Amino acid sequence: MKNNYLFQCDLLEWYHKNARVLPWRNEPTPYRVWISEMMLQQTRVDTVIPYFMKFISELPTVQALAAVEEDKLLKLWQGLGYYNRALNLKKAAQILVAEHQGELPSELTQLVSLPGIGPYSAGAIASIAFGKAVPAVDGNVLRIIARLLASHEDISNTKIRKQMQEIAAHLVSQEEPGHFNQALMDLGATICIPNGEPKCIQCPVSKHCKAYRHGLTSEIPIKVLKKVRSIDKKTVFVISSKGKFALRKREAGGLLPNLWEFPNVDVYLNENQCKDVLTDMGIEVKQITELIPSKHIFSHREWHMKGYFVLAEADKSVVDFIWVTKNQINQQYAIPTAFKDFIKVCEKKAAETQ
Ligand code: ADE
Repeated sequence: MKNNYLFQCDLLEWYHKNARVLPWRNEPTPYRVWISEMMLQQTRVDTVIPYFMKFISELPTVQALAAVEEDKLLKLWQGLGYYNRALNLKKAAQILVAEHQGELPSELTQLVSLPGIGPYSAGAIASIAFGKAVPAVDGNVLRIIARLLASHEDISNTKIRKQMQEIAAHLVSQEEPGHFNQALMDLGATICIPNGEPKCIQCPVSKHCKAYRHGLTSEIPIKVLKKVRSIDKKTVFVISSKGKFALRKREAGGLLPNLWEFPNVDVYLNENQCKDVLTDMGIEVKQITELIPSKHIFSHREWHMKGYFVLAEADKSVVDFIWVTKNQINQQYAIPTAFKDFIKVCEKKAAETQ
C-alpha cells in the first residue's frame, strides 16, 4: 500500500459515519470487550447480541464469572457452540482474580497467556479496551489485506498469516487503534464480504485496493480446498418415564465437554437392537417409536442421527442418568444445539400428556 495514513483516514471517516451499533461498543470496558470477543469467535454478530446482554446481566464482573457454577455458565452459552470458550472464560476469570486483582491485563503477552485468548482476541482487547496500537487479524482482515495487495497467496497458510499480521501491524492507526480494528471488522462483514462479489462501489477504501483496480476481487482470496467433514452415525434415545426425560452428562474431554445430552450410541440401531441396548443400560422398555432422523453439522464433522422415543418403566435404576422435566431441559440444563430436534420431541410429548 502506498500510503497507510490516507488509508486510515478514509477507513476511519467511513467508520465514524457507519459503525454498526453494538452493545459492547457503547461501553467498551475490558470485561465487556473480552466477553464479546470470546463470543464473536466463530459466531455471527446478530447471534451474539442477545447472548452478550444476558451474560453481562447475569455475570457482570470478573468475580461473578470466576465463581459461577459450570452448569449455569454452560446454560448461558447454550446454542453458541464451541463450549470450550465458555469453560476457558471461567478458568481465565479465576486466574484474573487470583493473580491480577480481578482486572484484565493490557499487554498482549499477558493476554495471550490466559486460557482462550489467542493473538486475534488479544489484539482486539488490547486495542479496543486499552487503546494499544496493535492489530487484530482474523479471517475477515486476512481477506481484506489479500484484496488490498492483490495477493494470490493462500491465507490459510501459517507463514502467509504471519506475513499478513506484520502488514496489519504497520497499517493500524496509532491514534485510534480500537476504532481502526473495528472498522476493518465492519468492512469485512458488510462490504468486503467473502464468497461472491464484494460491494466495491460502496467501499470507502477501494482507491487503495489493488484487487479492485485489477478486477480481481472475486478471485481473491484464492479458495483452498476445504477438508471433507467426517460423518458420525448415531442413535439417540428420548427416554421418558413418569413425565420426565433421561439426560446424561458428556465427558469432560473432547467434543461438547460437560454438556448434557440424550443417551445415545455411536451406531445406527433398529428397534430390536435398541431394546437390547436399552436393557443393558438398565431401561425397561414399555414402548418404542422411531423418530424423524436429524442431522447436525459441526465445523469438522457431521452427526447423522436416528432417533427413538422410548417410554420406560423405571426412572431410578440407571446410575449415570438424571430424570428431568421439559421445563428443566429448557431452563436449567445446557444441551448442545445438535440435539434440538430431540428437545422438540420432549416439548411435544410433555404437551400431549398435560
Ligand atoms: N467480530 C469480532 N470482534 C468484533 C467486534 N468488536 N465488533 C464487530 N464484529 C466483531
